[in-house]
Amino acid sequence: MKKIRSFNNRINIKNKRIILRSDLNVPIKNKVIQDKTRINLSIPLIENLLKREAKVLLISHLGRPRDLKDHNLSLKPVYEYLKEKISNNIYFFSDKITNKTKDKISFLKNGEIIFFENIRLNDGEIQNDDNFAKNLSSLGDVYINDAFSCAHRKQTSIHKITKHISNSYAGPLLMKEIQSINMVLNSKKKPTTCIIGGSKISTKLGVITTLLKKVDYLIIVGAMANNFIKFKGNKIGKSLIESGSEKIIGEIYDKADKNSCEIVTPLDFAVSESIDGEANLKSFQDIQENDIILDIGQKTIKKINKVIDSSKTVLWNGPAGYFENRNFSKGTISIARKISENTKSNNLISIVGGGDTISAIKNNGIDVNFTHLSTAGGAFLEYIEGKNLPGIEVLK
Ligand code: 3PG
Repeated sequence: MKKIRSFNNRINIKNKRIILRSDLNVPIKNKVIQDKTRINLSIPLIENLLKREAKVLLISHLGRPRDLKDHNLSLKPVYEYLKEKISNNIYFFSDKITNKTKDKISFLKNGEIIFFENIRLNDGEIQNDDNFAKNLSSLGDVYINDAFSCAHRKQTSIHKITKHISNSYAGPLLMKEIQSINMVLNSKKKPTTCIIGGSKISTKLGVITTLLKKVDYLIIVGAMANNFIKFKGNKIGKSLIESGSEKIIGEIYDKADKNSCEIVTPLDFAVSESIDGEANLKSFQDIQENDIILDIGQKTIKKINKVIDSSKTVLWNGPAGYFENRNFSKGTISIARKISENTKSNNLISIVGGGDTISAIKNNGIDVNFTHLSTAGGAFLEYIEGKNLPGIEVLK
């Protein structure tokens, strides 16, 4: 197997312009950052580069812009936070990146940073466009990808850029994620349970299909579970649902049968008529037309705890409910506590991943202990699934 070229302290970067692709895609509400984990984890490498007298060109995306002028998705709040945390000069570059950008940023001195506005606001980033890759790569001498959580995206700042910069490396965070997940997968002990939640439904259904062949229990929670509940003929009121998912869910149940994988879906719920409302505990038959399912209920939590107790390895990705409203964070917090307790006392191997999952845990300030906590969501799942991630393949 080809080795990944990893960045290290022996590489001479003095006077060099380093294009650093980080994942600073953090939840922001009314310009206030809700969870700073990804930023805080990215800072040590930035400081290392500055100390070694490099010029840092920092790049990240934020969310999924509707168009190239989506001002709601500005990285400005992240810039303000970085200014507080890093004492070196840091500039914000809000223009689009073109063939003129190199001249515009030529003022940058060693030990200084330019932080670029949301890279997805540039035409060509999402398309993995070669012209945009040329303009972007012309800004730097060395490229470092430290964004494992974006490695599954075939987008310019992750993929095509490496075609034009031969000095391309994986950063320490990316390497640590891969090494930790490999370590856990290679020492995988059965029974294995995978808990999948969250609302990025279509992105996870494919991954679930593959995981069915590898795990003993598949627990489906979060908005994704609504599709399964409806599939079984139950009412879900006004809950979030993805139309057209029936066929794939039918296939999931068939495959689960063939592979002796037990699928566990919610047995009861916390619902409300609005996402800002109070929690009402209900079972299937009590769900009304205006109800929105926003969390799992007590019976479901008990069932999940029992499955976790019988497991030797647990993979968890995606919250169990709408944790942004504390009234609906109980399911997610209970799962976090149970996995953490068993990791500490029962030698459970636990891998927990996903930006939302981490936010849910951090927002509630609980102290947890997992074998590996990944900041990645989709990339984490695809890597576990055994897929080649485009952003990693180009660094080999
Ligand atoms: C994530 O949050 O999983 C990463 O930042 C990737 O974001 P994306 O799913 O919008 O590409």
